[in-house]
Amino acid sequence: MHNLASKIVKGMKGRRSIYALTNESTISDDRIKELVSEVALHTPSPFNCQSARMVVLLKEEHQKLWDIALEVVSATSPPEVLEKVYKPRIAGFRAGYGTVLFYEDFAPLKPFGEQFPMIAGKLPEWADHSSGMHQFALWTILEAEGLGCNLQHYSPMIDARVSELWNVPVEWSLKAQLVFGKPTGPPRDKAFESLDKRVFIHGE
Ligand SMILES: Cc1cc2nc3c(=O)[nH]c(=O)nc-3n(C[C@H](O)[C@H](O)[C@H](O)COP(=O)(O)O)c2cc1C
Repeated sequence: MHNLASKIVKGMKGRRSIYALTNESTISDDRIKELVSEVALHTPSPFNCQSARMVVLLKEEHQKLWDIALEVVSATSPPEVLEKVYKPRIAGFRAGYGTVLFYEDFAPLKPFGEQFPMIAGKLPEWADHSSGMHQFALWTILEAEGLGCNLQHYSPMIDARVSELWNVPVEWSLKAQLVFGKPTGPPRDKAFESLDKRVFIHGE
């Protein structure tokens, strides 16, 4: 039970969506930077193109992000949805300690599309796969450090404002936002679909 595979599974089970967060961290900012860097170095990417980009916003910078989200959502949501859904939800994200923005820069993948035209159309999808792997890895690792995280999607609404404020190249594509902070409660109950419908093994 103590081999590496079992420890990784334990980490995977520990990764849950946690929404009740405070503006504290269980680890230092240096440690956060170190872990984000490890994820950048060791998560796979198509053709090893390393197209993932992660922008980490902490404390006041994190709060600015969720202020922007509330502003842009306020401009387009029906008032009732804004009051009942977005305002409390976004206030919950803003109450956290930080957010990691996951981007993909398509430029490093472009030459492979020219070299292998038969798979050029699949490359954006594969970049998304790699982004998801980065998201999962960092989410799992931060929770293993005692933080709570949840994954959000406020693109494309926030894209232009975020690019402008934090000098993010407009060509980068924003895939997801991972909110984190010190958890104040457990994750919600989770139902599991039967594995008989999901896992198939032939040739045992
Ligand atoms: C691709 C993807 C998109 C998701 N988008 C959101 C989202 O926009 N907002 C949110 O609160 N949770 C989002 N989630 C979290 C899922 O709702 C959550 O992972 C799922 O309900 C299982 O719960 P768990 O994370 O606690 O295991 C997303 C998860 C994935 C994998």
